[in-house]
Amino acid sequence: MQASIIAVMNQKGGTGKTTTTINLGVALAEAGKKVLLLDIDPQGSLTWHLGVVEPPQDLADVFFGDADWQSTFVEKEKLTLVPSTIELANTELSLATHPDRTRVLQKLLTVLRSDFDFILLDCAPSLSLLTINALTVADQILIPLRPEILALKGLDLMSRTVQNVRKTYNPNLKVLGIVLVMVDLRMSITKEIYEYLIEQTPYKVFDAHIELDEKTIEAPSFGTSTLSYAPDSLSSRAYRRLAKEILELF
Ligand SMILES: Nc1ncnc2c1ncn2[C@@H]1O[C@H](COP(=O)(O)OP(=O)(O)OP(=O)(O)O)[C@@H](O)[C@H]1O
Ligand SMILES: [Mg+2]
Repeated sequence: MQASIIAVMNQKGGTGKTTTTINLGVALAEAGKKVLLLDIDPQGSLTWHLGVVEPPQDLADVFFGDADWQSTFVEKEKLTLVPSTIELANTELSLATHPDRTRVLQKLLTVLRSDFDFILLDCAPSLSLLTINALTVADQILIPLRPEILALKGLDLMSRTVQNVRKTYNPNLKVLGIVLVMVDLRMSITKEIYEYLIEQTPYKVFDAHIELDEKTIEAPSFGTSTLSYAPDSLSSRAYRRLAKEILELF
């Protein structure tokens, strides 16, 4: 087994990165894959979303060499989570003076590659050193995108980021594709943006799109994925379709 590492990334905020990391992760786990989620955002939203409060060890401890991976693991919903807290902001600071500051995560993750099928990285909406670490170790980027005009600007930024990362840190970085999220099919802009993406971007746009769904907004307050909270909701079904499409690519 050699894990595929997928960074869920969009420099724009609030585009469904964390929600997609969790629900895609659970859908892949339901399909029998061994899945690890890494919370690489000092906001700790992924951790909170999965109902983990004040974990004894977290990603920052691994970065600082104070913990091994296994001591951070939280088993949730058929998958494994490495949680984060605001402590991760200190990691960002100390990375700045590290001699090999963009490859710290890459080195740390080597030992885990043979234990999982998929490692999903929930990135912060910024090009911080932590995010650069994520993009340096990632094999692929998955870009969740809301169908709105401003999102296309964000996508331009992402395209430039991908080119720069390929040039400087990770020549093998691929874009797995774009997944449309928070989609309201009643709006004509949705179809227009979908068609624009198909015609104008070099990236795959997944057929599965995640509908705007109340259950997805509610799930984090119960500390669970939407798939566990409301298995038959529109977005749960869509995340399963996305997982299926992704599995067909591997
Ligand atoms: N399919 C959906 N339907 C309705 N609401 C959604 C859906 N997906 C995500 N949301 C809501 O949108 C908000 C932003 O989602 P999320 O936190 O996943 O975005 P993010 O890109 O991780 O944000 P950030 O950039 O701050 O990390 C959240 O309140 C979430 O509950
Ligand atoms: Mg997030």
